[in-house]
Amino acid sequence: MVERVIVNEVGPRDGLQSQGKTLSVAQRLEMIQVLLDTGIRSVEVGSFVSPKAVPQMAGTDELFAQLPMADQVAYSALIPNAKGYELAKAAGVKSVAVVLSATETMNQRNIRMSLDETTAVCTELMQRAREDGLEARAYVAVAFECPFEGVTPAERVISLTQRMFDAGADKVIIADTIGAANPLAVRKVLTPLQAFSEAGRLSCHFHDTRGMALANVLASLQAGVREFDSSIGGLGGCPFSPGATGNLATEDLVLMLNAMGFETGIDSLALVEAVKRIEALTETALGGHSFRWLQRQVAQGVKHA
Ligand code: COA
Ligand code: ZN
Repeated sequence: MVERVIVNEVGPRDGLQSQGKTLSVAQRLEMIQVLLDTGIRSVEVGSFVSPKAVPQMAGTDELFAQLPMADQVAYSALIPNAKGYELAKAAGVKSVAVVLSATETMNQRNIRMSLDETTAVCTELMQRAREDGLEARAYVAVAFECPFEGVTPAERVISLTQRMFDAGADKVIIADTIGAANPLAVRKVLTPLQAFSEAGRLSCHFHDTRGMALANVLASLQAGVREFDSSIGGLGGCPFSPGATGNLATEDLVLMLNAMGFETGIDSLALVEAVKRIEALTETALGGHSFRWLQRQVAQGVKHA
């Protein structure tokens, strides 16, 4: 039996939010179409945050009104607070993701609330999303290390995850915001949560800052996780988190998953064209570890990688 793994593309949100160049809504739409052309069917479109805090994400409501293939693609949006929830709901968003950072300082820096306040707000928003019939997702951010507080205790990540499930979250995304995780640390967090992974309710979000993102994906797969965030060409970072450089590149993730026999529905060779087009749109040099190799396969006329 072929096992499916969901690849959730976060380039349009996590990727673009930290870029020097702000894309227009039309360019963001073009980026999403380019991604869909590769077979990607799960996309984090943007966030409903203060345009003063993150100007790159202004106009996410307009973007949602124009999204193609809405019935075939799982589109989601990030929301930091109740105002973001209202705006997302009004824009017709069907899946919202709240962000709960596992440390006090990161919550303050990111969304100006304490960890307790954020937990309360996230709990309420998960419940509201459920009542309103939206998919409720929760990020547990800086789940391995915080740029301000150092190593994050695994027990805290596990208990925050449990609290989000108790609040009604459909899915929790364990996020290594600054790319500081390693496979053993991943196993420590994920093993106690294995029942949620096997129920398809846990996802992982890795950054490749220290080159360990794919190793961390393998550790997660072994703990039963079957959904991952990644960003085309490795585009990304968090503007409020010093040291948060590129995300795990979608082409690296897809190449490994396909090679391992998982079904992703994504053509790794088609990602080469996507990287090039999004590189032109963002005016940022892109490409994961496998990009040059993939590019050579395309140049040689190889049909499957
Ligand atoms: N969407 C749009 N605007 C929002 C908003 C939202 N979700 N939440 C608040 N605002 C607006 C308020 O209306 C207010 O606007 P005004 O200055 O025109 O009156 C302004 O933002 C400040 O509101 P306030 O409630 O005082 O928020 P704050 O200054 O404490 O900022 C956040 C908190 C969360 C709004 C802001 O820090 C933010 O959007 N951060 C983005 C975090 C992010 O994207 N991180 C990366 C992803 S994890
Ligand atoms: Zn991220």
